Amino acid sequence: MSEQRRFFSHETIERNVGWLILATIAAVSIAGLVQIIPLFFQHSTTEPSAGIVPYSALRLAGRDIYQREGCVGCHSQQIRTLRSEVERYGPYSVAGESVYDHPFLWGSKRTGPDLSRVGGRYSDDWHRIHLNNPREVVPESNMPAYPWLEKKLTDASSIQAHLKALRRLGVPYTDEQIENSPKELEGKTELDALVAYLQELGIHRRYLTLDESTH
Ligand code: HEC
Repeated sequence: MSEQRRFFSHETIERNVGWLILATIAAVSIAGLVQIIPLFFQHSTTEPSAGIVPYSALRLAGRDIYQREGCVGCHSQQIRTLRSEVERYGPYSVAGESVYDHPFLWGSKRTGPDLSRVGGRYSDDWHRIHLNNPREVVPESNMPAYPWLEKKLTDASSIQAHLKALRRLGVPYTDEQIENSPKELEGKTELDALVAYLQELGIHRRYLTLDESTH
């Protein structure tokens, strides 16, 4: 008895590279959406963790400089759940800590240490010296120096637009915060802004109990 071939069988897909590509794309897309879509509705990924507030204008300007200078190329901002990481850096990262981060700066390369809990670990002066020339405080450091940061004032001209754009993405800035943002940057150097950003990374966690810190 001869085998009857259906018009659209598994064999058709396997023998025709065009169909195979289309079917693979469909399968991967559906599987991807099944994983991704629920995340938009889960509280743990959409609600801010306890103590998380929108970045102040100065910290936001510092965050921009962090991006511009490519710090994320050497520093991650995500602590994995592994014991060695938690012992070294502190409580592991959760999605609710990043709800106001556009874009995320989790990174994946760690030439230097993770920075997600670096806030308050050193003094402002330590950061200033370190960013100007890391070798002055850590002789074996291979981190680049950023001596130009203290010589340039932060750019206040675009900060209001930046806050407004973030508000459109769901960050709850008030009209007052937006209005006052250029004033907050007045006379501040890029170094001031970057240090302000670094000094608050992860500090909300310090005040939580162990139980709260896992949410
Ligand atoms: C080429 C890789 C590299 C780049 C780029 C880099 N760093 Fe680093 N960073 C390091 C290394 C390595 C260390 C560890 C030695 C040290 O403390 O200097 C470090 C340490 C640090 C520390 C101290 C962390 C701790 O827990 O002791 C801070 C803060 C820091 N870097 C901030 C920055 C910032 C901000 C930028 C961008 C302006 C930056 N780094 C860019 C490699 C880098």
